[in-house]
Amino acid sequence: MPRYSNAIVRTPAFSLAQGITTQALGAPEIDLAREQHAAYVAALRSLGVEVTVLDADEQYPDSCFVEDPAVICNGVAIITRPGAPTRRGETGAIREVLRALMPVVELGGGEDARLEGGDVLMCGQRVLVGKSKRTNHMGIKRLAAHLREIAPQMSVTAVPLEGVLHLKTGMTALRPSLLLRDPACRIESRFPFARTFTLPRAQGYAANVLPINDGVLIAKGYPLVATLAREHYERVIELDMSEFHKMDGSLTCLSLLW
Ligand code: GLY
Repeated sequence: MPRYSNAIVRTPAFSLAQGITTQALGAPEIDLAREQHAAYVAALRSLGVEVTVLDADEQYPDSCFVEDPAVICNGVAIITRPGAPTRRGETGAIREVLRALMPVVELGGGEDARLEGGDVLMCGQRVLVGKSKRTNHMGIKRLAAHLREIAPQMSVTAVPLEGVLHLKTGMTALRPSLLLRDPACRIESRFPFARTFTLPRAQGYAANVLPINDGVLIAKGYPLVATLAREHYERVIELDMSEFHKMDGSLTCLSLLW
């Protein structure tokens, strides 16, 4: 798995409950969301990652989900064009922060191109990109064009999906050769390079895991994934994600890592 030394996160806004969600789990409780976020930051740090915590941005309720406005690969940031109109403005602040840290390029492709980082799953030398309600064919084409320059060894595969927000909402890689899938995430594509483990429906949320260096972050309360994770990692950190789950958020959404 890639090694990460840096991350950017953003403190959840008090306006979080006004964000977009398809869940019917009730409104998030902001104080608890901030506690859970602080635990997430502590977990990243404990795995050797230097974390920059950006202030909350009340203008954008979903702005704590920082992985959507940018994709970072080989030390270069690609600023996306989020498919959700209410999230498009989040790119401005992220662009400014990243410009001070690394080369930054724009997705390009005109107004019709759409891409959110939550659809981009790096899996060894493969990049699987969800064609979802937020990411379209043109967005994937533009990402592939950038990656040909930035990381020519990587191959990009579009993955049409239904049933969940982003590809990584419903499928991530515990190891490059072991994918975890929420059965709610409907995908026709097959991935011959990996074994795909489909979780029981009640544990589907736990398909979103975040391997970092020698450890892995997993959502708390999902014993099957906890057992699997312990088979593969010395350090398994379980985090309570209840307030972010209410807003269709998961572990990978909360950081930009490089
Ligand atoms: N609430 C996260 C999103 O819908 O983008």
